[in-house]
Amino acid sequence: MILGIETSCDETAAAVVAEDGEIVSSVVASQADLHARFGGVVPEVASRRHLELIAPVVAEALDGRSVEAVAVTTRPGLIGALLVGVSAAKALAWALRLPLIPVDHLHGHVASLYLKPLDLQPPFTCLLASGGHTMLLDVSDRSGYRVLGTTLDDAAGEAFDKGARLLGLGYPGGREIDLLAREGDPTAYRFPVARVPGLDFSFSGLKTALLYAVRDLTVDELAARRADLAASYQRAIVRALVERLEATGAERVAVVGGVAANSELRAALPEAALAPLALCTDNAAMIASAGRYGERVPYPDYLVLDARATA
Ligand code: KG4
Ligand code: ZN
Repeated sequence: MILGIETSCDETAAAVVAEDGEIVSSVVASQADLHARFGGVVPEVASRRHLELIAPVVAEALDGRSVEAVAVTTRPGLIGALLVGVSAAKALAWALRLPLIPVDHLHGHVASLYLKPLDLQPPFTCLLASGGHTMLLDVSDRSGYRVLGTTLDDAAGEAFDKGARLLGLGYPGGREIDLLAREGDPTAYRFPVARVPGLDFSFSGLKTALLYAVRDLTVDELAARRADLAASYQRAIVRALVERLEATGAERVAVVGGVAANSELRAALPEAALAPLALCTDNAAMIASAGRYGERVPYPDYLVLDARATA
């Protein structure tokens, strides 16, 4: 059994996962409400909240169980937020004389596919679309991945969040747009799908197109067109993601990350392996899952391990 700890952004999470990929427990304390009034994650506020939540969240996930190792997200993410999880993991591993497994958050998202009952076997091509990253990955085994393409500017989830803000919707915006889009006409506006060379992505032009569409509207007009704007905007993001995934020519494809929760994206990829809804947005079960394939650093070597903001 492995304890996973995740604090890279605004979810304080801990989970226990068995060696065979069974989720024994998974606790996610979202701070979304705390950040909503700022329209985005405030790093310092996130760090402080992680500090308050980490001990009770880990205790709830452990619930008296003993584990053989502690896996923790060490990169990439908000540095202050990451440090809370890494410090807690070190302290716990040290106290129990357990090995510690540093986990790359992006590998964690991919490893959400390795949990039961899905238990996906590589090889496959993976679209990772979250608030911080949008990548195409070549996954040949469970220990890692090779990057085929990445975003040149905003991540897909960031495009959802910024779009939601322009439309006057709440944070996090992906879910808000997803819900509102169901009431709108996705063909009402023709938003651009960027065509950059290779397998990379770009979403900044789309965001600007929405800004132009919105800024000429009165408050009443915006209220009347909001659902159409949301539906058309979502359609453009989904098309960009699906086109790029198809451009790889891959037969076995998978989708992970917060944006994988999007209902239109899921419907557009009926053949793909999709991360289960509860495991799309940040959680610690995926971190413990990745930990099964990571290097176990023995006590006391891991005491020098550090968090890193970048991948
Ligand atoms: O993976 P995640 O929880 O955190 C990062 O690693 O970044 O992804 C969060 C992102 C946010 O941008 C959020 O708006 C987006 O995932 N998201 C969605 C949906 N649910 C969450 N985007 C589109 N549709 C959704 N249903
Ligand atoms: Zn994430």
